[in-house]
Order: sequence, then C-alpha cells, then structure tokens
Amino acid sequence: MISNRAGRERLIFALDMVEDMKGVEEWIEVLKDHVGMFKVGKELFTRLGPPVVSRIKESGGEVFLDLKFHDIPNTVAKASEAAVNLGVSMFNIHALGGKKMMEEAARSVRECSEKMKLPVPSVIAVTVLTSLDDADIREIGFDCSTAELVPKLAGFARDAGLSGVVASAQDVSSIREACGEDFLIVTPGIRVDEGIVGDDQKRILTPKRAISMGADYIVVGRPIRMADDPVAMADRISGDIEEGLGERVRH
Ligand code: C5P
Repeated sequence: MISNRAGRERLIFALDMVEDMKGVEEWIEVLKDHVGMFKVGKELFTRLGPPVVSRIKESGGEVFLDLKFHDIPNTVAKASEAAVNLGVSMFNIHALGGKKMMEEAARSVRECSEKMKLPVPSVIAVTVLTSLDDADIREIGFDCSTAELVPKLAGFARDAGLSGVVASAQDVSSIREACGEDFLIVTPGIRVDEGIVGDDQKRILTPKRAISMGADYIVVGRPIRMADDPVAMADRISGDIEEGLGERVRH
C-alpha cells in the first residue's frame, strides 16, 4: 500500500550498516515506495562507490549523498560537479569550509546542471557537527556557543546560495528564524517514541514534532531498520510527518 505521499517525500532513509550491494538492493526493494530518498553516507560510498547511487536511481529511488565535502573551493566545486553527474537529488558540504567554498559549490552545481541538462540537486550545509559541544568549539578557538554558531553558519550558507542545512532537533527553530521559510532544514536524530533510551542519539524529536517545528525533511535510520515491520514503520512515520505539516509553526 502506498500512502501519505507528502509525508513520504520528506522521509529520508539512512542506508547505514549495509555491507554489500545485495543488502542495498534488499532495502531498495522493501522501501522504495515508502520513503522519499535513500541517504548514502561515507561508509557505504567508500565501500561500494558510485554504483550504489546508480542502483538506487535505476529502481526509481532518489539519493541524498551524505559525504560532507570540506576542502579548498576548487576541489569542492569539482566534487560537486561529480555529484550532479551522479544524479543525486541532494548532497552536503561543510559550512566551516568558508563562504568562498560554499559559493563555488553552488555556482558549479548551477552551471553543471544547466550544461548537462540534469536536475539541480539541493546543496545543504553541515554547520557544527553534533558530536561537538560548547567546550569543544571553544577549545578549537570559537568565542561563542554552538547555539550561536549554528544559526550564524546557516546564514552564511544561505547567503552563499546553498539550499539549506542539516540540523539537529534543538537548532531547527533558531535556523528557521535566522534563515526564513525558503531554506531547507534536514533533521536526523528522529525517534518515534519520545522516551526511547539505549542508543547514541541524545537530542531526539518525534517525526511530527520535528516537522511541526520547521524541519522540511527527516533522516531516519534505526527506527525503520530495526523495526519488526520496516514498511509499516516507514508508513507510520510518513503519517506522522503529514500531521506535523498540519501543525507547522510559521516564523
Ligand atoms: O539510526 P539513526 O536514525 O540515528 O540514523 C541517523 C542518520 O543520520 C545516520 O546516518 C547518522 O549518521 C546521521 N546523522 C545523525 N546525526 C547527525 C548527523 C547525521 O544521526 N547530527
């Protein structure tokens, strides 16, 4: 059964812990009509390479390439062109690579998409890794908190012409306030029950709450992967997203 279309399009399944192409194909088969995108991260891409993206696309699925580019502007611009040529729908780069790097990425994506007549992927920025806390960023040399740095970097990303940011649950509101409605926010750290304990996601939100607070897409891995019935769980999450859309807060 295919249901909750608007919700499903906003649901990104993290293809983590998949060892080989057979595993990828199994998940595509199970979830292709129940999620909007498959997230391919560093681990999977380093192991299987571009064929994993092709395989997802051949089956009609869309890809969020989560490789978090961070390098000199020219190198990131060239890597961004390669992402366009792979046909991904979304990919990300680090805002801490600087404004010039982000501007070059945005420019090369626009130019390459036009030249190759390919769809323009969303380019989103990672602001501050959620593994870093206030003490960590002060140690690196920033004289502010992560709560201050995240919306500031999101603003740089928007000014550089990027489409949006990846942001953890607790930063969604401040980013939405700083960057307005026309800026994508992609949020991981989603759990279907508020009270769940025993994994490494510390600041979690339910799908409905993340979307109602202003997230545009949510990234979900374990809650679907480890469910007894992954399809039923994906459909439930799509339904929750639709409810969240109905309650969305406007800034
Ligand atoms: O299994 P889970 O739902 O926690 O997976 C979330 C996905 O989002 C994983 O691929 C993880 O690497 C990614 N992610 C995250 N937290 C961040 C950034 C990315 O969980 N701050």
